[in-house]
Amino acid sequence: MSRFSEPQDPLFQSLDYSLDVDRRLWPYDVAQSRAHATMLAARGIISEDDRDQILTALHQVEQELAEGRFPFEDDDVDIHMAIERRVTELAGRAGGKIHTGRSRNDQVATDLALYVRDHAVRLADQVEALARTLVDVAERHLDWALPGYTHLQRAQPVYLSHHLLAYVWMLVRDRERMRFAARQADVLPLGAGALAGVNFDTDRTQVARDLGFAGVVPNSIDAVSNRDFALDLLQACAVVSTHLSRLGAEIVLWSSQEFGFMELSDAWSSGSSLMPQKKNPDCGELLRGKAPRVVGHLAALHGVMHALPLTYNKDLQEDKEHVFDAVDTVTITLAAADGMLSTASFNRDRMAAAASDENIAATDIADFLVKKGLPFRESHGVVAGLVRTSFEQKRPLSSFTLEELKAHHELLDEGVYGVLSQASWLESKVSLGGTALVRVTEQLAQARAVLDL
Ligand code: ARG
Repeated sequence: MSRFSEPQDPLFQSLDYSLDVDRRLWPYDVAQSRAHATMLAARGIISEDDRDQILTALHQVEQELAEGRFPFEDDDVDIHMAIERRVTELAGRAGGKIHTGRSRNDQVATDLALYVRDHAVRLADQVEALARTLVDVAERHLDWALPGYTHLQRAQPVYLSHHLLAYVWMLVRDRERMRFAARQADVLPLGAGALAGVNFDTDRTQVARDLGFAGVVPNSIDAVSNRDFALDLLQACAVVSTHLSRLGAEIVLWSSQEFGFMELSDAWSSGSSLMPQKKNPDCGELLRGKAPRVVGHLAALHGVMHALPLTYNKDLQEDKEHVFDAVDTVTITLAAADGMLSTASFNRDRMAAAASDENIAATDIADFLVKKGLPFRESHGVVAGLVRTSFEQKRPLSSFTLEELKAHHELLDEGVYGVLSQASWLESKVSLGGTALVRVTEQLAQARAVLDL
């Protein structure tokens, strides 16, 4: 029987249909159905015989789904309905009892929480793996100099290890965000029923224990309304994608002929269909290009949740596509970044040549004067004058005679020539977190220690 006398409009049915998206929740739906039936029998709400028939049917359903031979039907609107229909087909009247004390509202929230928890944990590991790769690459290029940039203008030289470690710290934070999302998803919604609780003396803590949740959601209304854990995972995905986009962008620049700092392996490059000489960094470009899509998923779910009255509304069905696509995109881009970086090679000479542009030492000369007692603002002006003369006369700073130096300021003496060597610019950055080798070596050890946590 149905309360409706007219059939649904096919157009509405196709709008409402979510099976193509949510079918991938099936392992979680089977697991929670198992835990739920077991609890119902333990509390005497269904008989042990009914439970056994349900569990046998669920076992078959699981195999059919795993082997891709589950007989989906046209009226299966979502994975929950499909599984319940099949369990009832297989177990007869007992199957009709699986949905006792359960609503699709707490059911879908539970499936999604399980999905988010699993994938947040897995992505935290994947983020860590990429960070470890970066630490290894940094260690192999410990004292390779390259220019550090601001505004994409050569600013101050740094070691490649130091530059790569900057990404490691981003990823350390990303791992933390993934772990946070996993914890947010670690409380059981099931048992809330449609929204108010159920008319049976259920044992939610047993179900939580069975499914490996740390606890149960304390409020049935919150249990079915909440998708914060999905927002948290999307937030973590959005930030890590943004980080990968910056890495991708630098790889694109560095592997250009203009920079020539690195070369990607053939396995991670594309050729051109027209220009035979080309080796394109498509993978770096895709790291860059995929990020807005992930950030878009975060914005879209905020849009879905915004001003949504409690409790369940069908709007919430729109949560999954965003979460799944973000997770898929981050999964493949993290793996690709790892593959691309671990097989890339760097060009020490090109980087060193770019880093030995003497004008890069301008700040160091200014600091040289500061150490002799000149206020920084004044020394900044003196050095600006020096650099300007160097440009006008097309002569490097190291070719200035002592007299010429003194003409700019009497405190400029032969010490300036020592400041104008690449090694000294790098090795003078001894402050904590700076690029001097002692500091980078400490940082490498620190990064490894943090990644072990
Ligand atoms: N397919 C639905 C979703 O993903 C399942 C929950 C349906 N609940 C309901 N009350 N109609 O949100």
